[in-house]
Amino acid sequence: MPLKVAGPGAAAPSQSGMDGIDYELGADYWSKVDPTIDGMLGGFAQISPLDIEGSSKFLKWCLKGSWSESGSPSTGRALDCGAGIGRVTKYLLQRHFQTVDMVEQDAKFLDHSRAYLGPTSKVDQRFCSGLQSFTPQSAHYDVIWSQWVLGHLADSDLVAFFQRCARGLKANGVLIVKENTTSSDTVEQDPQDGSVTRPDALLKSLFAQADLVLIKDLQQLKFPAELYPVKMYALRPKTASDSPDEAKLKAVGMLPD
Ligand SMILES: C[S@@+](CC[C@H](N)C(=O)[O-])C[C@H]1O[C@@H](n2cnc3c(N)ncnc32)[C@H](O)[C@@H]1O
Repeated sequence: MPLKVAGPGAAAPSQSGMDGIDYELGADYWSKVDPTIDGMLGGFAQISPLDIEGSSKFLKWCLKGSWSESGSPSTGRALDCGAGIGRVTKYLLQRHFQTVDMVEQDAKFLDHSRAYLGPTSKVDQRFCSGLQSFTPQSAHYDVIWSQWVLGHLADSDLVAFFQRCARGLKANGVLIVKENTTSSDTVEQDPQDGSVTRPDALLKSLFAQADLVLIKDLQQLKFPAELYPVKMYALRPKTASDSPDEAKLKAVGMLPD
């Protein structure tokens, strides 16, 4: 789902099944897109440096680990989800991690990423797969980054994908999501590429359904006003200490003895 102009005419509210998602249409749409930054960003290549600047600040804050009681994430390996030709890998993840893996459903983009990233790239694995059927290796990643792709997944597939990502994180690892959001409370469907744009509240509900805890969220600043608001979310898997234990609940009378 590239950067898109928000507002009337840009998209229609979702009505069909699968939450308005059409996987076939999505794959077909991307198969016709040029393997360029402009292609990745729906004709808004000029905002790429600003996007990277915002992401970089957000990532640095996450890596400091002030949010964590058990330590900061390490900088060993990151996963770029819906990586396209590797724009995020090139300008963001490679600068912070020793190794980066990419997952992308369109083989042409992954092939092109070899020339785009060059021989000195830090990319190890390139997985050609839809995120709806991709499982990251268990306890393998310090950061899993998903940007401008999750609107292609139906709600139930997205929750299941988040759950698999949670299992793919190392100790103190973080899942980072950067996506368009609607300003309205409704899901907006794009009939061109079979994707949706979700409101912030729905994204947060899907995170919670996947047992993810929101560490921080922030809106990307300085993007053109006509675009959908773009938000960044840092998430970690829920741990036992996040849920009050039974004894505590009993002590305050919220559970029978
Ligand atoms: C808007 S581009 C974003 C690329 C990259 N994340 C960036 O920010 O430069 C969306 C990418 O997601 C990929 N994509 C679309 N649906 C996907 C799916 N179901 N699973 C994996 N990748 C998908 C497209 O092929 C395309 O490369």
